[in-house]
Amino acid sequence: MIEKTCILVKPDGVNKKVVGKVLDRLESEGFNLLSLKMIYPDKELIESFYSVHKGKFFYESFIQFMVSGPIIATAWQGENAIVRTRKIIGSTDCQKAEPGTLRKLYGTDTRENLVHGSDSVESANREISIMFKTTELSRI
Ligand code: TYD
Ligand code: MG
Repeated sequence: MIEKTCILVKPDGVNKKVVGKVLDRLESEGFNLLSLKMIYPDKELIESFYSVHKGKFFYESFIQFMVSGPIIATAWQGENAIVRTRKIIGSTDCQKAEPGTLRKLYGTDTRENLVHGSDSVESANREISIMFKTTELSRI
């Protein structure tokens, strides 16, 4: 099934100057870029994006990290894009992520884990609509 997904390069990825590596990997794997922008997020945007995690033990420190610097918001389309991009991204804990995954290659730990990838079609639609206006999205 052709799916859309929302991929963020988190503040650590911008800091480490690996934005290009993340984009290159996704392009190389055949995904089509629908939209891309750099955002200096405020707490409101990030809290809305990560609302399902509200109340969890890591929530407050994770939100602080996510507003600590700019992020790159992207939307992509491709065959089974959600599962395939999450496999390329790797496990939440970068130290335990599979060899060759973006988190293993460039991430730090469980909080500063480089990249976000949508986990379902519903999440992808919700996340893309939070990050992009309709005029910022390709209609393919
Ligand atoms: P989660 O949805 O469990 O991970 P994933 O991004 O792999 O889908 O958690 C969302 C984000 O919350 C995760 O990318 C980083 C942060 N987080 C922490 O800071 N500490 C934690 O212990 C966990 C589980 C997540
Ligand atoms: Mg998740």
